[in-house]
Amino acid sequence: MLDLKIIIGSTREGRSADQVHPWVVERARAHEAFDVEVLDLRDWPLPMFAETIQTVGDFRDPTYSDPIVKRWNQTIKAADAFLFITTEYNHSVPGVLKNAIDSVFVSYGFRNKPSATVSYSNSLVGGARAIEHLAHMIIEADGVPLRNTVPVGRVLQAFDEDGMPHDPMTDVSLGIVLDDLAWWGTALQKARADGELPPGTFRLRAAMAAQAKG
Ligand SMILES: Cc1cc2nc3c(=O)[nH]c(=O)nc-3n(C[C@H](O)[C@H](O)[C@H](O)COP(=O)(O)O)c2cc1C
Repeated sequence: MLDLKIIIGSTREGRSADQVHPWVVERARAHEAFDVEVLDLRDWPLPMFAETIQTVGDFRDPTYSDPIVKRWNQTIKAADAFLFITTEYNHSVPGVLKNAIDSVFVSYGFRNKPSATVSYSNSLVGGARAIEHLAHMIIEADGVPLRNTVPVGRVLQAFDEDGMPHDPMTDVSLGIVLDDLAWWGTALQKARADGELPPGTFRLRAAMAAQAKG
């Protein structure tokens, strides 16, 4: 089984995320590949990112500025795959989600693991611009953002009374995303077990140090 973390990325009172996540979580739990854990950022009141080399302390067992940051890093590190549920704020993800990604610091918790996104918004665009920004963030976090996504437009009208999307293609799209996460999650789990390269930044630093030595 793959450890799939579903990250709910908006936290405000009355959020539309609550229209979306029950359907996503139910479909993910029904998928045979996954052991699902929901990480609702409401339950993770992470401080605004403030980590430094000093707050990290011992890199092999980092302290961080706050115990919740340590717990967050350990939780992300334990995952094999990620499914983000995000809306679009000012053409990007909510600040609380960006902060949660930034807070995965020196643990490389997203590294060499697949991630996909279900987005939603009140507009017809369905959070597509947040999807694109998020993919860029995940690349920098050394993760593997997948091509297929599920944008849900006009979110307040998108679900029926049973919590299922009115448009059957929305459900089909989620099925495709879950299958992709299962395939990539399995492939990358094996690849990580066979051995990983050190992060590129470490290799670059080593090369620069060697060059400086002459
Ligand atoms: C600060 C803010 C910025 C927003 N920016 C966008 C946007 O760029 N594009 C869009 O389609 N909707 C935008 N919206 C509307 C959201 O799609 C809509 O409010 C959605 O319900 C937000 O998700 P939430 O309720 O889970 O927080 C914005 C809403 C807020 C509060």
